[in-house]
Amino acid sequence: MSVIDKYEKIVMAITGLVIALFIFSILYAKDKYKSNLPECIPFNKAYTVAKVNKIDNKTYQVFAVAQMWQFQPSEIYIPVGSEVDFYLTSKDVVHGFNIADKNVNMMAIYGNINKTTVKFEKPGIYYITCHEYCGIGHQNMQAQVIVNDPAN
Ligand code: CUA
Repeated sequence: MSVIDKYEKIVMAITGLVIALFIFSILYAKDKYKSNLPECIPFNKAYTVAKVNKIDNKTYQVFAVAQMWQFQPSEIYIPVGSEVDFYLTSKDVVHGFNIADKNVNMMAIYGNINKTTVKFEKPGIYYITCHEYCGIGHQNMQAQVIVNDPAN
């Protein structure tokens, strides 16, 4: 019969509590900060042409394509208050896709599509930056979401 040491039991209990705390934190953040965990869409749905679809006045779809060393589309114009589904893929290597002030941190991967949804409640220019080193032109890889307020 094996005997578990008293201190080992304490360590196991603390470990269990820490894991529970981590899981709780993720679920809490997802709810409280409306964090949108990106979805991964199967390989056979991959597209190669970038486009912006207007679903209605406040709903858009952006099919973004990353390639060395640019994002297409490079400028996305939407009205304030819009909700945008971003689909993201790459034509070559792995690129990053970070939208400033929007808590978006995705990877663009050849043959795969990642998706996230973002609501733009304030007008302004939101910079999209590649934050994954992808070669000699990496630092120039940027795009913009331009959010206009039609009232002004
Ligand atoms: Cu693309 Cu760095």
